[in-house]
Amino acid sequence: MPHNLRERSSVPPSFVSVNRMRIVEIVGAQKENPTIKTFTFVDKLCGKAEPGQFVMVWIPGVDEIPMSLSAINSSGGLSSITVNGVGEASRALNKKERGDQIGIRGPFGNGFVPAGGNVMVVGGGTGLSPLLPLTEKLAKVADKITLMSGAKCRDNLVFMDRIDRILSEVNSETIFTTEDGSYGIECLVVDQAEQKLKKEKFDMIYTCGPEQMMYSMFILAEQHNVPLQASLERIMRCAIGLCGSCQIGKLRVCKDGPVLNSEQLRSVKEEFGKFQLDFTGKRIKL
Ligand SMILES: Cc1cc2nc3c(=O)[nH]c(=O)nc-3n(C[C@H](O)[C@H](O)[C@H](O)COP(=O)(O)OP(=O)(O)OC[C@H]3O[C@@H](n4cnc5c(N)ncnc54)[C@H](O)[C@@H]3O)c2cc1C
Ligand code: FES
Repeated sequence: MPHNLRERSSVPPSFVSVNRMRIVEIVGAQKENPTIKTFTFVDKLCGKAEPGQFVMVWIPGVDEIPMSLSAINSSGGLSSITVNGVGEASRALNKKERGDQIGIRGPFGNGFVPAGGNVMVVGGGTGLSPLLPLTEKLAKVADKITLMSGAKCRDNLVFMDRIDRILSEVNSETIFTTEDGSYGIECLVVDQAEQKLKKEKFDMIYTCGPEQMMYSMFILAEQHNVPLQASLERIMRCAIGLCGSCQIGKLRVCKDGPVLNSEQLRSVKEEFGKFQLDFTGKRIKL
């Protein structure tokens, strides 16, 4: 479809929220690299989610942890999560295989609001997960998409084929960066974003990844006067705004976020990129 005929819409989507546990069977378990795995399952409610919304995943006998939806299929409810095994729960989850069962609550929270015009999408490592279903939506409404994916090394650059499939037919540019130079440009992804912002006028920036990276993107966006939406991570228990474990300033990331816009981020700039609550509720440095 020619770009001038694409729908130019930034009407905020409505975000479905369902706090009821469903047991789902894993129908696909794909290893992305030695520590990252994508699990596919069928769940009608997840099929109604918007990009950026998250689910609470129950690993029986271990824990329940929040995960972004890395794929959302509204017609069949086929959804996926992409898990980086960094601690007890995420490593236990990554031992699951096709045919195993997990519990799902959600979707929860406010996701991304797709914008038209010239948009930049910046992901760090598995932070790219919620940005992929977003990019699928952006491909229908944006004039141009500049997608930047950064990681420490080539092994940690995930979803490369999927990015290619989503963006091959639309006006877009894809830039990969690695810190060790094993693929793409050797630099931090934020440095590339800065170069782009100096040359082009963008209408919206979307980001997800390590919080220091997102904080740097927020500062750049403020300097260049571009609105930004960032998906934050905090410790989550209830996921419905009751327990306070995900508090940042006056906001609760599970309910007000996880996607926060520039205005919300300005209101929590004393904590964003600097502090979070630990499992006991104590404020600790990030
Ligand atoms: C809204 C939301 C969406 C999320 N989406 C995803 C997702 O799509 N994929 C995903 O893999 N995780 C995602 N997370 C993070 C995830 O929920 C867990 O925090 C993470 O898997 C670690 O849990 P754990 O219990 O295994 O490790 P923990 O015991 O909590 O931590 C073990 C060690 O790993 C470190 N660590 C914790 N989290 C991370 C992290 N994200 N990256 C690197 N080191 C970390 C800790 O500092 C600690 O040293 C999301 C979190 C939120 C709040
Ligand atoms: S996780 Fe309980 S208030 Fe957000």
